[in-house]
Amino acid sequence: AVEPDLTGKRVLISAGGTREAIDPVRFIGNHSSGRQGYALARTAAARGADVTVVAANVGLPDPAGVHLVRVGSAVELAEAVEAERAGADAVVMTAAVADFRPVNSAASKIKKSGTAPAPIELVENPDILAGLVVSREREGTAQTIVGFAAETDDVIANGRAKLARKGCDLLVVNQVGGGKAFGTDDNKATVLGADGTVVDVPTGPKEDLADRVWDLVAERLPG
Ligand code: PMT
Repeated sequence: AVEPDLTGKRVLISAGGTREAIDPVRFIGNHSSGRQGYALARTAAARGADVTVVAANVGLPDPAGVHLVRVGSAVELAEAVEAERAGADAVVMTAAVADFRPVNSAASKIKKSGTAPAPIELVENPDILAGLVVSREREGTAQTIVGFAAETDDVIANGRAKLARKGCDLLVVNQVGGGKAFGTDDNKATVLGADGTVVDVPTGPKEDLADRVWDLVAERLPG
């Protein structure tokens, strides 16, 4: 039987990958399927939490018993997280968020013109995870904030730098590329704590990693 140790807690999870429109037909996207985020949602619900998921372009069956908000782009994801974050005891950002979006999204499909293609000018998207930390500091609330880091190389060193930059409590570092993490049923990760803790989670179902993350969150929740 699962211990209902998250009963009375509200958790907010982002899942999937954002899409940044180039024109009505094309976008800049990534390979996130939403599996890791939905595994976090299912396991949190099983442990008694009140769960909200902000899902970016996820094509999986809806997780049962959770409040689901669907979004497309990084800006929409940022707005949905902003609307849902108040009162959450924990926020877990598994969504793969585009760092940049096209400055202009063409109103009509861009045609081949016979000349060289026009470059796509990009502008930076808001850093949602870093913004959550800033809001928490400003408001003085107790909220455990967890990021995920998708790294291809120097996974731990890059993860440590990202943890310091984002200011979250926990950063779940997983290796991507070469068939790892994106779209798979299994994952493997190292969870870095802002307090210096390091927890290795061996390869296993995404639910197992999700449960380890909730264990580490539960340790940090007040009361
Ligand atoms: O969905 P799956 O197919 O199951 O794959 C799971 C996963 C590989 C997508 C997931 O495990 C994962 O690694 N998610 C994080 C992906 C990512 O965007 O990593 P990042 O290193 O670029 O970003 C670091 C953190 O900052 C993430 O928590 C991200 O949500 C957040 N971020 C990033 C950019 C931005 N503008 N705003 C953010 O909040």
